[in-house]
Parts: sequence; structure tokens; C-alpha cells
Amino acid sequence: MIASQEDERKRIAAELHDGLGQQLVVIRNLALISLRDVAPDHPFTSQMEEISATAAQALSEVRKISYNLRPYQLDRLGLTKAITGILQQVSTATTIAFTSEIEKVDDLFSKESEINFYRIVQECINNVVKHSKATRAAVNIWRAADELIFMIQDNGHGFLPGAAGSGSEAGGFGLIGVSERAQLLCGRVAIHSEPGQGTTVSVRIPLLSSEKYGQ
Ligand SMILES: Nc1ncnc2c1ncn2[C@@H]1O[C@H](COP(=O)(O)OP(=O)(O)O)[C@@H](O)[C@H]1O
Ligand SMILES: [Mg+2]
Repeated sequence: MIASQEDERKRIAAELHDGLGQQLVVIRNLALISLRDVAPDHPFTSQMEEISATAAQALSEVRKISYNLRPYQLDRLGLTKAITGILQQVSTATTIAFTSEIEKVDDLFSKESEINFYRIVQECINNVVKHSKATRAAVNIWRAADELIFMIQDNGHGFLPGAAGSGSEAGGFGLIGVSERAQLLCGRVAIHSEPGQGTTVSVRIPLLSSEKYGQ
């Protein structure tokens, strides 16, 4: 089910980006062209400016939504850069001081497994941003002898894992989704959190021989 959800997301992302996104580009360009042709003091000028600015805003919204549905960096730049990309983005967009040590994880997984690992990392980082009220967080990914370990620690207010109300977002992006995706990678998730004590989530994924997962 997770795999077919990812296919569906990919399709919607492409349609948003190439369909809606392209049409917004057309609207914006037409508004800009019209602006060239009317006198600056013409009453249409400010409306045209507004049309072009709103179209530009809608365009960046569409790009953001389609990016979250299917991070194009994952396909284009590979898993390691896609993950450091998330970290760069949250570092600029939040006040939490993120530190990270990320070993190269390209070519460890099949395409299908890669997105599962990416979603795990993405969800855990989002949870720190959304829920932790932390001032510092550390993200580490490293290879031990026969496993890949992802660990994220924050110094926020923590929570009671498994307590009622700790649900998941629609579409399996929550902690339930993290466990499901870890299972698909034959991995294990451990969550250490206590109210007031910060949170550590770690995921250990066995690396079996040189064979790629999910193939
Ligand atoms: N790093 C964290 N710090 C504090 N609370 C957290 C953290 N991660 C998760 N939680 C708590 O666990 C709950 C469940 O998380 P999750 O399953 O991802 O669902 P969602 O993010 O949709 O609320 C969150 O609502 C939040 O209360
Ligand atoms: Mg969440």
C-alpha cells in the first residue's frame, strides 16, 4: 500500500508541477507582457501587477506542494543530498540549531526502499520542527558493520510515546508511518522520550550483503 501511495504521489506531483504549474507560468507571463503595453498610470497597471504577483505566489506554492509529494532532488541528486537538502531548508526556516553528520547513503537501497528511508528522515525532522520546541537537534546517519543507523535527538519538551493521542497524519507520514516504513526495510525503530527530557528516535536498518533492498 505504501508503494502504491508513493506512485500516486509521484503522479500528482508531476501533474501539479507540469500542468497547473505551467499554466500559472503562462498567466504570469501574460500579465507581465500586458504591463509592458499599458501606460504606468493606467488603472489596469496595478491590477496586472497584482495578477502577476499572485500567479508567482501560487506557482511557488504549487512547487512546494509538489516537492513535498515527490522530492525531485531524490531522483535528481540522490538520497544523501536530498537529506542534507531537508536539513538546509529547516535550518533556514526555523530557529532550531540543527547539527548533522551524514554519511553517504546513495546506492545502498533500491529506488523503492530509498523513498521509505527518505520519508522516515523527513517525518522525524518535521516532528522536531512541529512538536518539540527544541533549541537544538542533532541528525546523524552512519554505517556500522552490517547496518545503517539513523538517529535524531532533540532537547525539546518530549512526549509519552504510545500515549493516547499520538496518532499519525493521514497518508502514513506520522510515527506509525515511520514504523511501517522501517519494517519494509527490515529495520527497527526505537523512541526514547520523556516529558521534559527531549526525544531521541533511532532507526537501525540491516545491510544485507551487496544486494539492494526491495529488488
Ligand atoms: N520530537 C518530538 N518532540 C515532542 N513531541 C513529539 C515529537 N515527535 C512526536 N511527538 C508527539 O507525538 C505525536 C505523534 O507524532 P506523529 O505520529 O508524527 O503525528 P503528527 O506529527 O501528525 O502529530 C505528536 O503529535 C507529538 O505530540
Ligand atoms: Mg508527525
